[in-house]
Amino acid sequence: MFAFGMDLGTSSVLLYRQGKGIVLREPSVVAVRRRSGQVVSVGQKARDMLGRTPEDLLAVRPVRGGVITDCEIAGIMARTMLRRAGCGGMFRPNLLICVPPLVSELEERAVLDAGIQAGASRVYLMEQPVAAAAGAGIDPHSPKGTLVVDIGGGTTDIAVISMGAVVRAVSIRIAGDSCDNAVQAYLRDAHNLDIGLSTAEYIKCEIGGVLPREKESRLTVRGRRVSDGLPACVTVQSGELVSVLHEQAEQILAAICGLIELTPPELVGDLTETGLVLAGGGSRLYGIGSYLSQELGLEAHTSDDPEACVVEGTSRVLGRLKNCKEGTINIARRRQGIV
Ligand SMILES: Nc1ncnc2c1ncn2[C@@H]1O[C@H](COP(=O)(O)OP(=O)(O)OP(=O)(O)O)[C@@H](O)[C@H]1O
Ligand SMILES: [Mg+2]
Repeated sequence: MFAFGMDLGTSSVLLYRQGKGIVLREPSVVAVRRRSGQVVSVGQKARDMLGRTPEDLLAVRPVRGGVITDCEIAGIMARTMLRRAGCGGMFRPNLLICVPPLVSELEERAVLDAGIQAGASRVYLMEQPVAAAAGAGIDPHSPKGTLVVDIGGGTTDIAVISMGAVVRAVSIRIAGDSCDNAVQAYLRDAHNLDIGLSTAEYIKCEIGGVLPREKESRLTVRGRRVSDGLPACVTVQSGELVSVLHEQAEQILAAICGLIELTPPELVGDLTETGLVLAGGGSRLYGIGSYLSQELGLEAHTSDDPEACVVEGTSRVLGRLKNCKEGTINIARRRQGIV
């Protein structure tokens, strides 16, 4: 029986089917009826409703920073995704779900429950930074220390891994979503324009960056004028957003430096050789790789498909799940005292 690897992220859910590759990639959004709580749609269709839902409909993100905030909805979402990936009815696959490095035992249990609710026969957990390194083509089992920076939607998870395990980790809430919030606030303050978060995300991806672009680009943005509440449209230049997003990158850099300080010197020494692995959709932000690499003096390894690094990394383990321990890995308890 084949198994599935799952990355249950704040922004998207990815599924990897053993022997086949990535079979599903959808936004982790669920539309529910406000009054009855009934699920109306899951994934892309629900994502399109974000910020546009009628009164009675609510677009919910059941995962925040890789942690499940609504178990029932997360379970329904995972089940729907597995069905879409061709797995339903009597067929109950084994499921390997990636969890952030600092989840508590309770949070691990919520992930396991979601997996069981989704219809899995057995659920296994894997630490995201280890999976991300494997997915980026680095051997996570090497005894040499490797720095993994996964800039997702809800959180940036920073970890030093060695011999297939996380040695030190830290997680901050500065990531894709906080960049969207910063762009939204900037448009309001500097352009007197109210925009939704989906528009802010679009602006960030299209013309945002932490370093100035060689060729300035611009975008016409529509929204509501703050002063009179009427529809309006303004032109935004890429250069305007640099200071807004640079601030976010500085906070990520500060967290990386803080973690390096707490890492044993032997492993820190290795980093000059192994460099920095960048994963997560947030690492697509223009200039962030060069900025971090330059400030840290480390070579950055990026992937063409950074959102997929974590789930791609599960492929290494899916074939030998039988040898793995089912259920919680008690990462938090096992690593008590480690930030
Ligand atoms: N070209 C781009 N420029 C900047 N940001 C981007 C770009 N493309 C995608 N992103 C951002 O990447 C983020 C999603 O990344 P990813 O899919 O890795 O998150 P996730 O794994 O779902 O979240 P988390 O790991 O926090 O649970 C979103 O905030 C999205 O806006
Ligand atoms: Mg992620």
